[in-house]
Amino acid sequence: MVLGVSGTIGTRLADLLRATHEVIGVSRRTNPSIDLTQPTTIDSALHLIGEVDAVICVAAHGALTPVQDVSATVYDDAIRAKLLGQLHLVHVALRHLSPGGSITLTSGRSDPAMTGAAVGASINIALETYVELAAAELGDRARLNVVSPGWVSETLAAMGRSPVDGTPAAVVAQQFRDIVLGEMTGTVVR
Ligand SMILES: NC(=O)c1ccc[n+]([C@@H]2O[C@H](COP(=O)([O-])OP(=O)(O)OC[C@H]3O[C@@H](n4cnc5c(N)ncnc54)[C@H](OP(=O)(O)O)[C@@H]3O)[C@@H](O)[C@H]2O)c1
Repeated sequence: MVLGVSGTIGTRLADLLRATHEVIGVSRRTNPSIDLTQPTTIDSALHLIGEVDAVICVAAHGALTPVQDVSATVYDDAIRAKLLGQLHLVHVALRHLSPGGSITLTSGRSDPAMTGAAVGASINIALETYVELAAAELGDRARLNVVSPGWVSETLAAMGRSPVDGTPAAVVAQQFRDIVLGEMTGTVVR
């Protein structure tokens, strides 16, 4: 299951995985749908989908927001969706994962010189710490990893910035595929 299937990374990742696997793509606009800010939608969708070999989350994002402008909306997007949503996704996925299955989350790398990255960077560190400790606790039950992309070229281009400062989405998608199909656990892929 790829959550965030319609996104910049998710579209490419789903295409890559479809070459060898059945892919169930999910977002807030699919049926079944998942909204990471609404934990019950995670439970309902996975209940409908049933057993899966892998759950990959490439959904949501944290907008760049200067510290003095951070509002409840920013927390909604960033903390409720990206942090709490992904943690709840792990909790639910464990009940629907085939033995030894794989869960892959997304964090991200910020440019320290860029204004507005503080909230997102805190969430990313929290996610990466969670994955390292939770994977050790899970042992053989499931593999748990997190991919931490830097800027994606297509995203930079959409922001009017130079795409050469980023990594093409297709390359980032390959990193996700490799970690999902590999054998590692507790890894932060940078
Ligand atoms: N692109 C970058 O440069 C970059 C860099 C570092 C890290 N990342 C991280 O990589 C992940 C994917 O980035 P992206 O650029 O591919 O994102 P994107 O193009 O904005 O796509 C986001 C995807 O997530 C879904 N989504 C959005 N909010 C959601 C929610 N609350 N619940 C469930 N699904 C939701 C969207 O579909 P719907 O709108 O249909 O729900 C869409 O499929 C994010 O975590 C992002 O922070 C991206």
